[in-house]
Amino acid sequence: MPPRTRAVFLALIAIAAAVATAAVTILLTSERQVGGQAAQVGGAFALTDQDGKRVTEADFRGRYMLIFFGFTNCPDVCPMTLQRIADALDAVPALKERLTPVLITVDPERDTPAVMKEYVGFFGPEFRGLTGTQAEIDAVLKAYKVYAKKVPLPDSALGYTMDHGGLIYLYGPDGAFVTAYDPSLDVTALAARLKENVN
Ligand code: NI
Repeated sequence: MPPRTRAVFLALIAIAAAVATAAVTILLTSERQVGGQAAQVGGAFALTDQDGKRVTEADFRGRYMLIFFGFTNCPDVCPMTLQRIADALDAVPALKERLTPVLITVDPERDTPAVMKEYVGFFGPEFRGLTGTQAEIDAVLKAYKVYAKKVPLPDSALGYTMDHGGLIYLYGPDGAFVTAYDPSLDVTALAARLKENVN
């Protein structure tokens, strides 16, 4: 190889190596960010349960918490998701010994403790329903990175609905984030994932 060609060749190898190193660095960094973000989801809260009792995340220590955000006037996604959670727990009854399913409302204006009590009662006695002041709920939504927005319904007696997102979050007995599930998982898949993650 003539010296000039050789120099170009070596330069190309050096560039390729630099690109590869940069790619690996970007990959590692993004993975760390995803892991870091997950660890930051959730945390402390102070709310009121369906019996009107004040509760914090510390009251759930020693048990897994399966948290879903929704509201009692939700026409479809919330009740269907809660029913799938109830069915998954019925499919693997041992889960009920270790885990408490929790609905946190995104609509505290209408979802009083009494309303929450009747609603979570439809899905099973193990369900807890948490509400609070608007400020308390706003703080929880922010901590759990859940999107929720009031949408006026001028032609409906309801007056408004809530546009909202959110996954199903699993927290461990020590309060640490374990994982999050897509709320559209079917009963079999959700039961299998829970069995895998709860021990
Ligand atoms: Ni909903």
